[in-house]
Order: sequence, then C-alpha cells, then structure tokens
Amino acid sequence: MSFPKHFLWGGATAANQLEGGWQEGGRGPSIDDALPGGKQRLNIVADPNFDWTIDPSKYTYPNHEGIDFFHHYKQDIALFAEMGFKCYRFSIAWSRLFPQGTEENANENGLAFYDDVIDTCLEHHIEPVITLSHYELPLNLAINFGGWKNKELITFFKRFADTVIERWGNKVKYFLTFNEINSAAHFPVLSQGMVGDTPKKAVFQAWHNQFVASAYAVQTARRVNPEIQMGNMILYATSYAYNANPVNQLANLQHNQDFNFFCADVQVRGEYPAYTHRYLAEFGLTEADLDRTPEELALLKEYHVDFLSFSYYMSSATEITGETKDTVAGNLMGGVKNPYLKASDWGWQIDPTGLRIALNELYDRYQVPVFVVENGLGAHDKVEADGRIFDSYRIDYLREHLKAIEGALEDGVPVMGYTPWGCIDLVSASTGEMSKRYGFIYVDLDDEGKGSGARSRKESFAWYQRVIATNGANL
Ligand code: BG6
Repeated sequence: MSFPKHFLWGGATAANQLEGGWQEGGRGPSIDDALPGGKQRLNIVADPNFDWTIDPSKYTYPNHEGIDFFHHYKQDIALFAEMGFKCYRFSIAWSRLFPQGTEENANENGLAFYDDVIDTCLEHHIEPVITLSHYELPLNLAINFGGWKNKELITFFKRFADTVIERWGNKVKYFLTFNEINSAAHFPVLSQGMVGDTPKKAVFQAWHNQFVASAYAVQTARRVNPEIQMGNMILYATSYAYNANPVNQLANLQHNQDFNFFCADVQVRGEYPAYTHRYLAEFGLTEADLDRTPEELALLKEYHVDFLSFSYYMSSATEITGETKDTVAGNLMGGVKNPYLKASDWGWQIDPTGLRIALNELYDRYQVPVFVVENGLGAHDKVEADGRIFDSYRIDYLREHLKAIEGALEDGVPVMGYTPWGCIDLVSASTGEMSKRYGFIYVDLDDEGKGSGARSRKESFAWYQRVIATNGANL
C-alpha cells in the first residue's frame, strides 16, 4: 500500500535545541539554559543538590547558542522547503513569550519572532506543527515554583497556551501539548521542570497538573477554531518480554501500562486507567495521595486530544528473573539488551519492526489517528575533503522505519505523517553534543560551539527529497 495523499512529510526540532538567541528580544532563561554541555549533563542535573545558577566559569551551555536558528530561520526553512516538507514540527520557547513564566502579558518581541517563523513556513506551503512545551520551562517556574508539581503552573501555562492558540490558531492546524510527557517516569527534571528532590508523589501530581493544563489547551483550541487538531505526545519504546517466562510477560505488560500507556490513557481516553492504583502502589502511594478535583476530572473527560503523536527511536525488553546481565542505554531510559538487535553509537537499540508494532498497539488501543513526530539515528558524520557527507547509515535507518510505517498503513493504521527528529543538526537533549547528529542538513559546529555554523546538504537530503517527491513510492 502507498502512503496516503495528504501524508504529512516533514521534520522536527525543539526551540531549546536550535534557536539560540537565549537573551535576545527580552527572552528569559529557560531550564535548558542551565543544562551543562557534555555526556554527563543529565546525571549532573539529576543530583538533588545541583546548583541551577547559570555559571559559565564552571560549565559550557550549548543551548544558549543552539545552531542560531534565531538568525537563520529563513535560510533553514527554505532548505526544508527544498526537501519538499509538507510540515515542520517545532516548539515555541515559553520564556520567549513569558520570560519569567508569570507575566500577565506576552513579550511582543517573542510574538513577532514566531509570527515570522510561521509566516515563512506558510509562504513555503509548509504546515506548522507546534509543540507547546518541549523540555523548556521558564527557569523561574522550576526554581521558585518547584516545577509542575505546583498547581499554579496550570494558570501560567494556560495563559501561554491561550496566547499561542489565539494568535496562530487560524493559521496553524496542528498543536501538541507536552513533548514526551511520560518521560518523567525516568527523568522528571526535563519534562516536569522539577529540580531538587523529586519523590514519586510529586511526579504523579505533576502529571495530573499537566493533564489538566493540556485539557485547557484543547478547550481553547475548540473555542478558537474547530478545525484545529490537538495531539498529545509520548515517548514510545515498544517493549518485549525478554523471553516466554510468564513472569517476564506480566512484568512487561505492567511496564507497558506504566510507561507507554499511562499518560496517553488519560489524555486520549479522558480518564485515569483502572490500573492507576496498582501503578501508584508500586511507590507506596494511593489515589488519595493525589490532589485531583471532580471539576478537573470532568475537564479531562471532555477535552481529550484528537490524535496521538509519539517519538520512536528504539525498543526495550523487560526481564525481572535475573536471566541476563547485559544492559544497554537508551532514550532517557536503559534496560536489558535484546540479543536480536544492534544499537547506535550511543547504545540505543535499532528496531524498525518495533515501530510497526508500536503503531498497531497504539491504534488498537486508542482508535485515533497516530503521528510519528520523532524518529532518527544519532550518529557521527564525517565531512569529506570536498565538503560532502555520505550518511548512508542514516538513510538505511530511516528507510527501514518508513517501510515499517508502510506496513502499519497496510495493517489499517491511520498514520498522519512522519517528522524525523533533528532534520537539521542541533544540540542533543541528553548529551548536549553537536556531534550526535540526526540531520539531513549538516551544521558546521562542534561540541564546544566552534565552527562557521554554515549549513550543507548531506547525502540523506537528496534521498529524503526524492522520498517526499514520490510520496514514499521511492524509498
Ligand atoms: C527525544 C526528545 O527524547 O529524543 C528530543 O524529544 C531529543 O528533544 C531526541 O533531542 C533525541 O535525543 P538526544 O538525546 O539524542 O538528543
């Protein structure tokens, strides 16, 4: 089966990883501005005693400059158009509009920047897909308000989301609320902006507050323009039981419920799933430990999302019987090694078949359209003497995942589109490196931020251009 006529081919980025201009136009500091560079960045900030003061004498801060999209967006979007993008997924930096997160009115300079980014996309017939919050909480809300466990954030987010949807909701059809909302199960600092000690009770409360905030955004979209399609966004890592041992099978089922489905169950179905009490009990908690009002639960029920979007890079395996000692790294999570899979240079297990399984599992469960809004291979690229970059390994990875999507379409899954991650090289979220590259477009910057910043087309650029031009017939 071929890809549907209006399949949304594109690419995905996040403000904090590419914009730079961190202090320009009145922008305030965001939590990512305080993330040091380097492979250990997530371990460093996970320490409850980490000092969140931005101190350039101590650390480098690659997100401050990103790839300077702030000054290059016209050129970069023109390159996306040259590839034939039908859509471009990007996020709005909350602290560019509300520098401290608490202001009553949005910063006009920030609004003007995104006016132009959106208009530039539309001039190129590229449909914007906007993530409202992609790991970029205003730092003030993290440090002085304690992040998402604080219910006040619902009010601040509502103001931000209303501003975005009211301003652009007649030009932009697709919005996602929180990037990889479920990743807080492993790493609450980034997605919930929770610094210091983060007991599980706070993580569950933060999720609830984000669910409510997300529902308010859906409510606003319904009011502003009924054409708007609202999506949630989860990190999906298809998970297999390590073997046929029923004990591992049950553990895997529960892992899926807790990690892959919990947030989506609330955001798509509109209510907490039956296993919530079991999940809470794993941490010695009960439903009574959560502050959830009947009004909030009614809001979740009424304003659930229209479609489900997810990132997919890798799969994982569950084993609790001590039958293997081999472990691997992964996208904000590690686990036991699957002997049937190879891994990327960063230890993420490559599994295209797992994407077909993911699409089927998600559609079977939710019966709403699904959108693959991140996928890709972080790899070291080599620039040849003549400046060319041959990234056949990236083409192979993407081709195999597109075949998996084709398979899922054949299975009957309504897949809306495909936006590979980091369509232009950008700063890695987990390691702060530039050398972990995903793009079709190379950016001449190294891990210290040195280089010309010049953009060039990799071999994969022409490949993806052809894929889009043939609507996936020529993979
Ligand atoms: C996802 C995030 O987890 O994976 C992105 O939504 C991130 O922000 C991407 O960049 C790839 O991860 P990394 O750590 O290789 O940049």
